[in-house]
Amino acid sequence: MTSIQNKIILTGIKPSGSPHLGNYLGAMRPSIEMQNQYQQSIYFIADFHSLTTIRNAKLHQEYIYGVALDWLALGLNPDKTVFFRQSDNPYHTELSWILSCITPMGLMERAHAWKDAINNKLKEENVGLFTYPILMAADILLYQADIIPVGKDQKQHVEIARDLAIKFNNTFGDTFKLPSEYTPPEIASIPGIDGVHKMSKSYNNTIMIFAEEKELKKQIMSIKTDSTPVEDSKDPDKDLVFQFYSLIANSSDIDNLRDKYQGGNFGYGEAKKILFEAFLDYFQNARQKRIELANNLRYVKDVLSEGAKNSLKISEKTIENVRQKVGLKF
Ligand code: ADP
Ligand code: TRP
Repeated sequence: MTSIQNKIILTGIKPSGSPHLGNYLGAMRPSIEMQNQYQQSIYFIADFHSLTTIRNAKLHQEYIYGVALDWLALGLNPDKTVFFRQSDNPYHTELSWILSCITPMGLMERAHAWKDAINNKLKEENVGLFTYPILMAADILLYQADIIPVGKDQKQHVEIARDLAIKFNNTFGDTFKLPSEYTPPEIASIPGIDGVHKMSKSYNNTIMIFAEEKELKKQIMSIKTDSTPVEDSKDPDKDLVFQFYSLIANSSDIDNLRDKYQGGNFGYGEAKKILFEAFLDYFQNARQKRIELANNLRYVKDVLSEGAKNSLKISEKTIENVRQKVGLKF
């Protein structure tokens, strides 16, 4: 039996804007925490995926570099991980095509993300968006990855990757390892500041990690709370401000805030100020580091090109094997 350390962890990061607390807690923090715990960690910028929605080249490039800065600032260690741009490795699209040829239409039609995008008219209906999970399956299977940290909304896509691996293995012989999603329940879906939807760029209900302080304060001050009067005791477990605080503060500070809520004469405005300070404190190093990295883009480019070389090296074996299995290699 392989021990956990022998496994490969992999995740993709879509460059579609600045990260919010939901992205960080649901996907970035667990990935960064796990980068040291496995034999190999592979994190890439999914810039083919972002083409399904972004139509402006300059903006796209800003997002791609932006996301590299975000991850490096938040603690991704390029010495421990293979960090690269998906579009630097053409095997992703090659494998995606090969997998698309064994993908049943129904499997794609049942994908929640596709159905949501179409039903809620959130995104343009294009074929890339429809086949998005196949490219994602290729991303995962190309590296024989075992563990895929993703937020709840991406879980089904990892299940699809597993289904396609099984289908391919059954059709052409054992080729791919079967991946599993990693989604700890307490962070699977971070709520938005509106208290209605999950936190998401699409709902404009976010707290942005790298926002200017003024903007950040505005976002935190607009977290939805109930109308319990200031004097009354409040139930911390039913409050969003407390929920956010619990995710970034240490346990004794969390207990202190809990006492304040329960003691009465403590308003939500004050709780929000405490959250704002805790947020700045928690992200202080990352916010500083991001500024430094932005002034040293050469370094970021070097990291990504080194990552690209490594990703090609690692994935070559699998793509060669796939070509052979399907009859494309003589
Ligand atoms: P958004 O919904 O803001 O467009 P993305 O779809 O780009 O976010 O998600 C990027 C990563 O962050 C994915 O792994 C996703 O599952 C995770 N994620 C996004 N929103 C949340 C959330 N509210 N809670 C937990 N994880 C999230
Ligand atoms: N689809 C993911 C998202 O929207 C990004 C992604 C692309 C990904 N390829 C991946 C995540 C492979 C995990 C594994 O956030």
